[in-house]
Amino acid sequence: MPKTCSIDYSDWRLERSSSIALYKQIEHYMKSKILSMEWEAGARLPAQRKLAKQLGVNRSTLVAALDCLTDAGFIEGNSGGGTVITDMAHRVDSMSPILPNWNAYVEEGSHYPNLPIIQTINNMEISPQMIRMGTGELAPDLLPTKEMEKTIRGAIDHGISLGYEQPLGHYPLREQLSKQLSEQGIEAAPNSILIVSGALQALQLIAAGLVGRGSTMLVEKPSYLYSIHAFQSAGLKMVGVPMDQGGIQVNALEQYALRYKASLLYTIPSFHNPTGTVMEQDRREALMNISNRIGLPIIEDSAYEALWLDAPAPRSLKSMDEHGQVLYVGTMSKCVCPGLRMGWIVGSQQVIERLADIKMQMDYGSSSLSQQVAAEWLRSGLHEARIQYIRAQLRLRRDFLLDQLKQHWSSFAAWRVPQGGFYIWVTMDKSIAIEALFKHALACGILLNPGYIYDRSSKHQLRLSYAYASFVEMERAIQLIAKWVKNKNVIER
Ligand SMILES: Cc1ncc(COP(=O)(O)O)c(C=O)c1O
Repeated sequence: MPKTCSIDYSDWRLERSSSIALYKQIEHYMKSKILSMEWEAGARLPAQRKLAKQLGVNRSTLVAALDCLTDAGFIEGNSGGGTVITDMAHRVDSMSPILPNWNAYVEEGSHYPNLPIIQTINNMEISPQMIRMGTGELAPDLLPTKEMEKTIRGAIDHGISLGYEQPLGHYPLREQLSKQLSEQGIEAAPNSILIVSGALQALQLIAAGLVGRGSTMLVEKPSYLYSIHAFQSAGLKMVGVPMDQGGIQVNALEQYALRYKASLLYTIPSFHNPTGTVMEQDRREALMNISNRIGLPIIEDSAYEALWLDAPAPRSLKSMDEHGQVLYVGTMSKCVCPGLRMGWIVGSQQVIERLADIKMQMDYGSSSLSQQVAAEWLRSGLHEARIQYIRAQLRLRRDFLLDQLKQHWSSFAAWRVPQGGFYIWVTMDKSIAIEALFKHALACGILLNPGYIYDRSSKHQLRLSYAYASFVEMERAIQLIAKWVKNKNVIER
């Protein structure tokens, strides 16, 4: 009795959104089954009507595929009116390629995909009409275009090198950073600084190089780290530690660290993303004590540290670090421009060398051009003036947005005044459905960042940013949302 060929849906399905016609996909699939000999010579194809139904296509689509296979000699009609695989089939050297099953490959990859809502935000951010009320980026008119042109010319005048850099990164840049860090109370020799492509890469490298699969990492709850999957993709478990107005709750932290046998703590102590919180000085001291006592290394993310608006944050954890417990991550993205993709990690030499070795395997170093420009930027003295300018601009924007909120959202939302950074963490009335609000706003050209991106349980929060949208856009978005709430367009049902 000849065998009947069956479609294996566990490793293949039609891609209806593909630009490749359905009949071609069927033809390629069948051809791959025949050439791999999974479908043997003499095996029968199911009756056309049945097969078309199984595949979910019109019979004419199936017939088009079968015609191609017949023409190429892979199948033929038999005397009983059925269709069988030919003897010749396995000797046919087909000219048409066998399609790889990309669906299966895509699902196999070990890195987690972004949350669907983040994919939507990433895709919609490129639309020029969108009012971007959650974006963690400086507005285009706050980027130092003129100064950067001057800096690039300066770098060229100093003789630009087009080769690879050394594993730790461009030495003059590390020297400049070492000087800058020293002014912040952090003693870091150039060989304990690794240049990376943005703070995000620093986190990826730490995930890849310092912690084993199955380890636990403590993070503030909520945290920026929940919006990326660097650590989960590396097999780490993330445990959120509650925070309040003064930052991470250190008493809870110690209990969590012991209960979960945590390997690391990730914290954004200054102008936290997404809440804008500043960790108080005595918490910082308590945190360092705990870290020393129980041997809990800390990743300190300083992305927004320079962007204080009212008063500088208390001294960094790294500046209090006497025993090398803290890995300090910095970036130019938030205070200069993200396009340079310029970040750094400061840590013990042993750690820095390990991470540099991984980085060499991953990308053979960050763009040497960016590094030379960044070195020139710091050398030129433009940096401090720029930061002061950005602080002044952000202060105006923050105050404007706070004023708008006070005027239009007071009856249904609450927030704290951030002392720096980009964000206002707004808690909406429980009757407002954040998901519905996100969708409604998106349909009306306003992009929001719901709080649950940063902590699944932050269901009533929004992260508003005053860094990106213009004053007119902020005003429009805040007033429109107030109107929807008052008209009950976005009510939890
Ligand atoms: C807290 C924090 N860390 C790191 C990053 C990543 O920054 P970079 O552009 O330097 O990779 C961001 C960006 O939003 C951030 O908010």
